[in-house]
Amino acid sequence: MLAGKRILLIIGGGIAAYKTPDLIRRLRERGAEVTPVLTRAAEEFVTPLTIGAVAGVAPHRDLFDLTTEAEMGHIQLSRSADLIVVAPATADLMAKMAQGLANDLASTLLLATDTPVLIAPAMNVRMWNHPATQRNIATLKGDGVGFVGPEVGNMACGEHGPGRMSEPLGIVAAVEQALANGPLKGKHILVTSGPTHEPIDPVRYIANRSSGAQGTAIAAALAALGADVTFVTGPADVPPPAGVRVVAVQTAREMLEAVQAALPADAAVMAAAVADWRVASASDRKLKKTRDGMPALEFAENPDILAQVSQMATGRPGLVVGFAAETNDVVENATAKGKRKGCDWIMANDVSPVTGIMGGSENAVILISDAGAEEWERMGKVDVAKRLADRIAAALV
Ligand code: CTP
Repeated sequence: MLAGKRILLIIGGGIAAYKTPDLIRRLRERGAEVTPVLTRAAEEFVTPLTIGAVAGVAPHRDLFDLTTEAEMGHIQLSRSADLIVVAPATADLMAKMAQGLANDLASTLLLATDTPVLIAPAMNVRMWNHPATQRNIATLKGDGVGFVGPEVGNMACGEHGPGRMSEPLGIVAAVEQALANGPLKGKHILVTSGPTHEPIDPVRYIANRSSGAQGTAIAAALAALGADVTFVTGPADVPPPAGVRVVAVQTAREMLEAVQAALPADAAVMAAAVADWRVASASDRKLKKTRDGMPALEFAENPDILAQVSQMATGRPGLVVGFAAETNDVVENATAKGKRKGCDWIMANDVSPVTGIMGGSENAVILISDAGAEEWERMGKVDVAKRLADRIAAALV
């Protein structure tokens, strides 16, 4: 997928630099030509010898290196790439980029270019959350810099939260997406996926059998066509796809909030199995058999995310796709559901237990639109996703 693509990889000085030899290897496996640049601080974490050996070329290290300046000046170096990747992008490097500083080779290259830039931030969670870094992030996004990660997780410093650099394969997926010339390039598409968990008390919840497999496959298929995907997911069984912006939620109300925050979008695909009801007054302490007896659960209705997005007065996505999981009178029920909620297309399927679709790897879908009901043969969820992504791409041109 990356054959012949030239990537200038700027390696910043953070502990996550230890992942960059693997990143280089993965990029080269896919045919990319990687020109590495090391900051001074990066050399404290990974040696020029290691980087040079995996990249197949010696890394650039110094702004005032007369030999390389004579062979290829820094201006030329930054312009000859198809994409500049900064990994790890430290808080310091991001601050320099946001300010337009140019006091070493890495920052000079980043200022002296109009080549697209993709950064993979990595830093301590407090540094990430600091208002100064958040300001820089907003500035960089406004300047058109692409982001992959950071991920939420345990960090080398022993803390937990957002700040971990994305894994090499996640960065590769983002690179492929940034360089893709797919039909959905430049389109922002929102995908909801997975079940929601509605708490009863701090340890118990109400859920459903959705695995998230279909929504995940759809997000991956859209990203593969070049879309910029925001993936809002409940607690799914399958991991989220690489190369998309992941927003993890638990409840229907959190999902609605995340969807609203992610808008505007060119299209929205609501594949989540959102719980229709939540427990009206979830207990904030564990219900006890001895103290509370048999609980009588009262329910309250959850917001209908699909209906709310479909019926937005302003800023409605151009195409809204809903799902209808039915067990009987599939076309009739799904058509009525689509009309009631106001979405443009509805992907209807029969989820009766005998079909094995809920939680299985296959799906049998009927696409209902103004053009009528179109029955797709039973196929793998990945193939359903690809066909839907192609249809969305055709509809959005
Ligand atoms: N949906 C949603 N928010 C909800 C419920 C459903 O966004 N609170 C979306 C789902 O993501 C899906 C579609 O609506 O795209 C259909 O969901 P489904 O559960 O089948 O429909 P219901 O509204 O629950 O209708 P019913 O229970 O009558 O089948």
